[in-house]
Amino acid sequence: MLLKDMKKFFPGKGPREAADFEKLPAHVAIIMDGNGRWAKKHKLSVSKGHRQGTETLREIIRHTDDLGIGSLSLYAFSTENWKRSPEEVAALMQLILDFFRSEIDELDAKNVRIRIMGDKGGLPEKQRDTLIEAERRTEKNTGLNLNIAVNYGSRAEIVLAAKEIALLVKNGELQLNAITEQTVSDHLYTRGQPDVDLMIRTSGEMRLSNFMLYQNAYAEFTFPAVLWPDFTVEAYDQALATFAHRQRRFGARL
Ligand code: FPP
Repeated sequence: MLLKDMKKFFPGKGPREAADFEKLPAHVAIIMDGNGRWAKKHKLSVSKGHRQGTETLREIIRHTDDLGIGSLSLYAFSTENWKRSPEEVAALMQLILDFFRSEIDELDAKNVRIRIMGDKGGLPEKQRDTLIEAERRTEKNTGLNLNIAVNYGSRAEIVLAAKEIALLVKNGELQLNAITEQTVSDHLYTRGQPDVDLMIRTSGEMRLSNFMLYQNAYAEFTFPAVLWPDFTVEAYDQALATFAHRQRRFGARL
């Protein structure tokens, strides 16, 4: 974010604090929570809540790209979300399809690289094919890394990484002693990207819900008390400003 934009949140701050405003996270992760409660509040169906949430999602992706943040990870559908009613699951699946179909041209033109985190094999065929095609079409792009979690669970992601690493050891391609924390990172869906710096969960809930457990090891957390469909670009800027003011110690004593 540009200094002049950040400054509006902290008018009258001195030059030292002002310098902090330029600390943008390299990787933002968002749990987009509160669509259901938003729908209830407005006496609408839950699918309408998710539809409104998708509008927020478009704005937030655009803003993240405008700011030049390197990676954005979004929790769209967890492995536990299959437990919801068939109507709600169908609505979410349709929204995911509509989103990729309507946004892919703009995202590709903006040099955004899309990666899907999660088990695409467990998705209906249309969704699976569309997501695979979005990844393929943008794989050479070098702008914003947009990671969208669909049929995702973080523990399952770590188990998958463990299996891949075990196979390399079994085949004699990797020495047991050569396995490091980086080796694990290199086998996650976010391989090649930095760890999460800023984790945002809307709606006031304060849980990680099996989202990016490994990547969030040293993330800063913010829990804006607004429902996802009401989360604005201004509220996002506020979270970024909060991040810029946090002192990160990574376990050391400064
Ligand atoms: C949590 O709200 C939100 C979800 C389970 C789905 C998030 C999905 C979207 C924002 C849109 C679809 C995604 C894409 C990529 C197009 P909740 O329903 O759990 O809210 P509640 O806790 O208030 O019930």
